[in-house]
Amino acid sequence: MKRMMDSHNPSNKEDLLTFLHQKQCERLVESMPRRMKAVIKDHGLIASNGERWKQLLRFSLMTLKNFGMGKRSIEQRIQKEAQFLLEEFRKSKGQPLDPTFYFSKAVANVICSVVFGHRFEYEDKEFLKLLGLLTETIQGFSTIWGQLYNAFPKVMEKMPGPHQRMLKASDDMKEFVKKRVEMHKETVDPNNPRDFIDCFLIKMEEEKDKADTEFHMDGVVYSTLDLFGAGTETVSLTLRYGLLILLKYPDVEERIHQEIDKVVGRDRAPCVADRSHMPYMDAVIHEIQRYIDLIPMGSPRKVIRYNCLPNAQFCSP
Ligand code: HEM
Repeated sequence: MKRMMDSHNPSNKEDLLTFLHQKQCERLVESMPRRMKAVIKDHGLIASNGERWKQLLRFSLMTLKNFGMGKRSIEQRIQKEAQFLLEEFRKSKGQPLDPTFYFSKAVANVICSVVFGHRFEYEDKEFLKLLGLLTETIQGFSTIWGQLYNAFPKVMEKMPGPHQRMLKASDDMKEFVKKRVEMHKETVDPNNPRDFIDCFLIKMEEEKDKADTEFHMDGVVYSTLDLFGAGTETVSLTLRYGLLILLKYPDVEERIHQEIDKVVGRDRAPCVADRSHMPYMDAVIHEIQRYIDLIPMGSPRKVIRYNCLPNAQFCSP
């Protein structure tokens, strides 16, 4: 039986930090839900380790930066998408609505514009299908059927039941991305990459004679899937819970409104530069993230040099 190490225990903390700095830990892929592992495989960013992870992460960060991540151009995409979202809310004419899918659509669109090269209309059938598949896959993991599958994958794979929908959804999502990659292959211009997939295809071409390259068809499909899944679900859930929490604390909402009116006003969209003038809003967002505890265990790591800490083989930073 392997042991987990609690990083919140102060007596373990120093050892853990030393571990991380000396690169004596790596991602504990075994701890991921089996289906998640089967979906994202170890070809993408989230479930890989070692040299593969280093190369894919370096490439992805550089590509995302080139497409404006952390810069003014992504800010403009977000501002534009926020306008589309507002239009959708306005259509409800003040009637109650469930914001779940609205947030997913808006957030997914910002990511889609970077990875697939364009945003989708909110009623686009392909887009709705993709979001439905993501929801079905992620929600499926937490159902009793999903957990049974996790514990007994070989048996459950053959058993009928609701978990079969989750399995199909994750396969369909992969097929969706594969199809997009194939479409990109036909139109990619090495001198004018349009998005993440184009950049990956260009890198694949550059490294096509390298035997141990990490840039191949599986790499582009799973890395794109990782960015889409990890980016969409985290940010839209944060928005959804944030709204729920503000409903419970109207006094906090009132103070946020006052700060927005004072700093941004009513005639323009908010921008990143406003952040330093909005300490209350900044604190509320941090508190929402702390309170909702979106990924409470972080990403588990395992030590890869056991002699350093004999009592713990697993650690969770
Ligand atoms: C509220 C927003 C977000 C939260 C709370 C969040 C949280 C996390 C956490 C806890 C990890 C694991 C870090 C670790 O390895 O220890 C992670 C990794 C990752 N996230 Fe996010 N994330 C968010 C937004 C995003 C967005 C917008 C994207 C993509 C556009 C994204 C893509 C990824 C990827 C690719 C990884 C794996 C990175 C690696 O292998 O080092 N995340 N995220």
